[in-house]
Amino acid sequence: MKKEDDLRKVVLIGTGLVGMSMAYSMLNTGGIDELVLVDLDEEKALGEAMDMSHGLPYSKSSLKVKAGNYDECKDADIVVITAGAAQKPGQTRLELVTINAKIMKSITQSIMATGFDGIIIVASNPVDLMSYVVQRVSKLPTNRVIGTGTILDTARLKFLLGEYLNVSSTNIHAYILGEHGDSSFVPWMNAYIGCKSMMEYIVEMNIDMNEMHKIYKEVQQAAYEIIKRKNATYYGIGLSLNRMISAIFGDENAVLTVSAYQQGEFKQEGLYIGVPAIINRHGISKIMPLYLNNVDQRKFDKSCKTLKEIINNELK
Ligand code: 2OP
Repeated sequence: MKKEDDLRKVVLIGTGLVGMSMAYSMLNTGGIDELVLVDLDEEKALGEAMDMSHGLPYSKSSLKVKAGNYDECKDADIVVITAGAAQKPGQTRLELVTINAKIMKSITQSIMATGFDGIIIVASNPVDLMSYVVQRVSKLPTNRVIGTGTILDTARLKFLLGEYLNVSSTNIHAYILGEHGDSSFVPWMNAYIGCKSMMEYIVEMNIDMNEMHKIYKEVQQAAYEIIKRKNATYYGIGLSLNRMISAIFGDENAVLTVSAYQQGEFKQEGLYIGVPAIINRHGISKIMPLYLNNVDQRKFDKSCKTLKEIINNELK
């Protein structure tokens, strides 16, 4: 936070459905002072800023929203990147790698050319690989480039488990780790309901473990199912981005599953992937290592292998 004033300023790159869902969610919750919308289509950014600002008299926040260009990154605290090609029905996130890597490179160069020295949050898919590209190009410290990772998958898991078990999703402490994509997984041994082990709970309740696997499968397929029906997903990721931003500005030390640069915490290094991390005003203050059993470590290693192959073949 290096501005002379203490205004909390966010620049959003990409005013598509994901970016604008984040923006609209922030208009409602507040938590930042200024939001600048940047898009290749400048008229679209302007129209969005007008539309959002007109709602302010009925909002609890006093967020200043405006359209702008990359110069606005200069004194921003956080830049959020949601631009790029989005998944089409039937397409995997990984299929977007080539086109979006090029877009990320160009966006990151434009951001860094302004002298930006804050935190970049990446939401564009495949998010783990795009976070890697943004960090490499920006040369920012790895704790200040954060991908949305499995934050949304984790929210989906909490929601579905909460519904199934009839427990508030806020008391479901279960997380999705790994790629934000098909090779993600749930370390079930590390899942809790309140302070009770989830595995103990389902045994006591006579719940078949297959039901838990079905719930994971539903999470893994969620984006495909939504995209099949409405061509895109955006509200969930919009709220997830808002959650990350409030954890940063609130200096919350919140544990969120984000895409973070690996330096051996989970026995892997040299890539971005979804793991639990403590998020505060420094970005990722610390990755929270977990004891993974052999089965889960193998799943994590497999997910890393998938991403590393693409890094080596396409991003180096
Ligand atoms: C999602 O999981 C498509 O990555 C996006 O909703």
